[in-house]
Amino acid sequence: MDRIKKLCGYLSPCKTFADVGCDHGYCTRYMLKNNLCEKAIISDVSDKCLNKAELLLNKYVRAGKCTSVCCYGLDKIENSPDLVLIAGMGGEEIISILRKAYIPKKFVLQPMRNVRGVREFLLEHGAEITRDDVFFSVGKYYFVICGNASGNKNTYTPARLEFGNGDLGGVLGDYLKEELKKKRDYLSRNLSDEHRAEITESIKFIEEFINGEIN
Ligand SMILES: C[S@@+](CC[C@H](N)C(=O)[O-])C[C@H]1O[C@@H](n2cnc3c(N)ncnc32)[C@H](O)[C@@H]1O
Repeated sequence: MDRIKKLCGYLSPCKTFADVGCDHGYCTRYMLKNNLCEKAIISDVSDKCLNKAELLLNKYVRAGKCTSVCCYGLDKIENSPDLVLIAGMGGEEIISILRKAYIPKKFVLQPMRNVRGVREFLLEHGAEITRDDVFFSVGKYYFVICGNASGNKNTYTPARLEFGNGDLGGVLGDYLKEELKKKRDYLSRNLSDEHRAEITESIKFIEEFINGEIN
């Protein structure tokens, strides 16, 4: 639940909010309960998951403030909502959803894997990334990418493409230190030369980034 609480901190007030892959529906409840949106759309590819959200949000559904749709990604969500949340699924899935539909007017994405791929996709498809950082919750780090379809271009260095735009003195710094430790520990295993070289290279990359030798 702590991840959800932190994730909700990235959501901004809007007219229409869409929670794609809503599952339980907690993020939509946060938006509606706090009057942060006038209307919400909950969607999920699984009707079983969608039913959970419908149950949680029943009073808003009955009041006409929340509509639900069972579909893949944004496929049946018309009139591009003002803010779209896609969280808790793999980066490849998020890319596939956006590729099939459109870059939402405003978005908050929280990929569980392949965050770099999501950044690359967004930058290649004319999205502006306005916030790209990482938070910590119950022993895990989560990357969050916020942006819009304004078409304003971002410039990303290779290190920022890999790790986002978080503050090195903050959670991103903690994440990188932990990654370094994991990778150094990993080197003590019996690895192939090729794999060892790959890990050593990635350790060097992180060290240079932390030390300000690259940015
Ligand atoms: C792990 S849950 C995350 C739920 C919530 N968004 C969160 O961040 O806690 C992932 C949800 O995404 C749904 N999902 C996965 N791929 C999807 C897709 N292509 N389109 C819509 N929903 C999808 C799953 O059915 C599941 O309910």
